[in-house]
Amino acid sequence: MRRLGDDITLADLEFDPDPIMARLRAEEPVCWVPALEMWLVARWDDVAFMEANPELFSAATEPSLLARALGPNMLTCDPPGHTRLQQIMQPPFQPGGRSGPFVSNELARIADELLDRVDPTGFDLMADYAQLLSAGALATVLGLDHHGYEQMWTWCRGLCADIANFGNDPELTKTGEIAKASLGEAIAQRIAHAGADDAAISSFVRGGATPDEIVNNVRLMISGGINEPRDGIGLVVHVLLTRPDLRAEIDASPAKLRRLIEEVFRVYTPVGTVTRQATQDLELAGVSIRRGDLVSGVLRSINLDETHWSDPTEIDLDRREGSHAAFALGAHRCLGEWLGRQEVRVGVERVLERFPALRMADGAEVEIRGFEFRGPHAIHVTSQ
Ligand code: HEM
Repeated sequence: MRRLGDDITLADLEFDPDPIMARLRAEEPVCWVPALEMWLVARWDDVAFMEANPELFSAATEPSLLARALGPNMLTCDPPGHTRLQQIMQPPFQPGGRSGPFVSNELARIADELLDRVDPTGFDLMADYAQLLSAGALATVLGLDHHGYEQMWTWCRGLCADIANFGNDPELTKTGEIAKASLGEAIAQRIAHAGADDAAISSFVRGGATPDEIVNNVRLMISGGINEPRDGIGLVVHVLLTRPDLRAEIDASPAKLRRLIEEVFRVYTPVGTVTRQATQDLELAGVSIRRGDLVSGVLRSINLDETHWSDPTEIDLDRREGSHAAFALGAHRCLGEWLGRQEVRVGVERVLERFPALRMADGAEVEIRGFEFRGPHAIHVTSQ
């Protein structure tokens, strides 16, 4: 008998996961997908259970595209090893660490410098602004900004090519390996010059992380911490330019921008999944899972779960149903969450203040694609 999962392909998920995941939530919420060789878990309660029980659902998966592309890192290990790395590496990304003064004193200036260079008659919000702002912000907090924002973006793209290389394409592996090696060298040089400064890499050295731990985890930060704020900035601006009702609400009450950002993160969920490995034979929602099986909790699906949210696909600035799962729910909850949110808020505020007449360019279509990483490739805008 054919099962629902037999007909699911990666290409379909990358094109538009929403109808597929809606069907899984309704009919087969824990579903084996042969094309991915893993279970997809579609409902909020079941993913929350996975996230609350790392001893049953390990992040140290075998095989691991993440460990291959970046080297072993905090997202490929479990507590207590993970807890130690988290304690060393989280502080610079909190308001009390390097990120606090960076957001107050430097972030808007970087945004303005980038906006000085765009052509107001027509530019790509993603390539000309969002990705460089996101790359520049992380580079500055880490202490790697002397390499330039374009170089950071190139490293990020190279690493991500291999992380999402589900088909083991040798060209993508080669691209990833080049980025991995040249970024590794840059981080090693920065470690050698670490001092009493407040850059994140210097504080990792002072915190007692080994050079290998720093290199691999900074690679992880660059692979995840640039794409996501980039997509967040693009998606929020896109929503504001295509939903005059929401734009009017934010113009009337600018403090609501923070609510809009949360709703956009929920509805679009740029990081699609948390992938883990069952450490023993177990049951999830009545389905038998064998030890060693890969199990993917689909954050994008649980953020739209009808049993958890009212009118889930609606962007509702007055929603009071608790926090969403776009930054995950468990031990590996996003380390750069606070900084990422500020990048999106300041990035959106600056572009709208500098270009109050900003609108979508005539005929511009925005394609939002991807499953593991989902976002717009380009957003063509004009302020004329
Ligand atoms: C603003 C948009 C962002 C979103 C939506 C996002 C989303 C996520 C998600 C869903 C996870 C969990 C992955 C998993 O468990 O498999 C995660 C982890 C992580 N994120 Fe983010 N992220 C964002 C920004 C950032 C930034 C700016 C950084 C910069 C340092 C960052 C660094 C990390 C790291 C290091 C982890 C691994 C944490 C751990 O293993 O404990 N992220 N992120």
